[in-house]
Amino acid sequence: RQRVLSGVQPTGSLHLGNYLGAIRNWVKLQEEYDTFFCVVDLHAITMPHEPRALLDATRSSAALYIACGIDPAKASIFVQSHVPAHTELAWLLSCITPIGWLRKMIQFKEKSKKAGAEEVGTGLLTYPVLMASDILLYQTDLVPVGEDQRQHLELARDVAERTNYLFGGKKAKKMGCKHTRLLKVPEALIPPAGARVMSLQDGTSKMSKSAESDLSRINLLDPTDAIVQKVKRAKTDAFEGLEWDNPERPEARNLLTIYQCVTGLSREEVLADVGGMRWGDFKPRLADALVAHLQPIQQRYAEVMRDEGALDAILAQGADAAAVEAYATLDNVRQAMGFAAGRRR
Ligand code: TYM
Repeated sequence: RQRVLSGVQPTGSLHLGNYLGAIRNWVKLQEEYDTFFCVVDLHAITMPHEPRALLDATRSSAALYIACGIDPAKASIFVQSHVPAHTELAWLLSCITPIGWLRKMIQFKEKSKKAGAEEVGTGLLTYPVLMASDILLYQTDLVPVGEDQRQHLELARDVAERTNYLFGGKKAKKMGCKHTRLLKVPEALIPPAGARVMSLQDGTSKMSKSAESDLSRINLLDPTDAIVQKVKRAKTDAFEGLEWDNPERPEARNLLTIYQCVTGLSREEVLADVGGMRWGDFKPRLADALVAHLQPIQQRYAEVMRDEGALDAILAQGADAAAVEAYATLDNVRQAMGFAAGRRR
């Protein structure tokens, strides 16, 4: 079976963008693929962080994966830092990743500009190498992510190819490696709808965990009244009716997309259903659809969080399964690069 891996950073609470762009698609993939879903806690410290918040968000994110429908009997769910192979491979790969590749990353440019380029932690620059390691350790075929991760995926592909070129093939054979193609080159899997959910306050900027105003996003754990309020206060425009493709109406497009994703209708069906409505009629309809979709997730979340022992056991089992795959790759790469075999852990 082909292999799938993806992850979400435990920074703050997961929102509708994370769900529609990524997690919702993981649920479908677990039926047909060999799937690994990790809570990428090591990624969550590239910007200043609060230890207690990281700890809470790590557990809460894992519980949300399950609540959203990831089945621990089908998929391995684990915490990235529980499998130290991720950081070790990241070091090996960072030494062969040209710094220019990293300086080009849009997320680095944006975040470092905000925080001051000389002041941000080094990890913000090298972060995409850690992400590449997350993926490449598992010989991953497909990586289901939202649109904003496309560039990082390209980098992961480039790093894999460079590693294979520098140390794979005949050279790996000479080193006695079991596998001479060291790393598989992965593909991004980006959904047709929901790959870029926009802020409720501005249809031209992405819904994100870091946006200041909580009104800009729907968190998966928002109570019903918050969802209703946020939709009610979402930015609108002065046009009549609703439409998909008017470039002057990014908000209409965004809210229709959200409606489409949570109802499961096609674009045409959405238009037939609500296209003739005014904002004032559409918004309560959208809020109802969101609440109906999120409520069962919230109920399951509460159940999962009630049994801490069971959640720990799922994460331990996930980490064990992940470690088997991860160390197989890491040991092979280590050997190819000329590191002496030795005792570990
Ligand atoms: P993160 O934590 O920012 O986001 C997690 C996933 O949610 C998607 N996403 C969105 N999709 C649609 N609309 C939005 N507004 C939106 N915001 C976020 C992201 O595309 C992502 O799929 N570097 C990654 C985490 C990561 C990772 C990995 C992912 C680390 N290692 C290995 C895949 C494989 C990140 O920061 O995602």
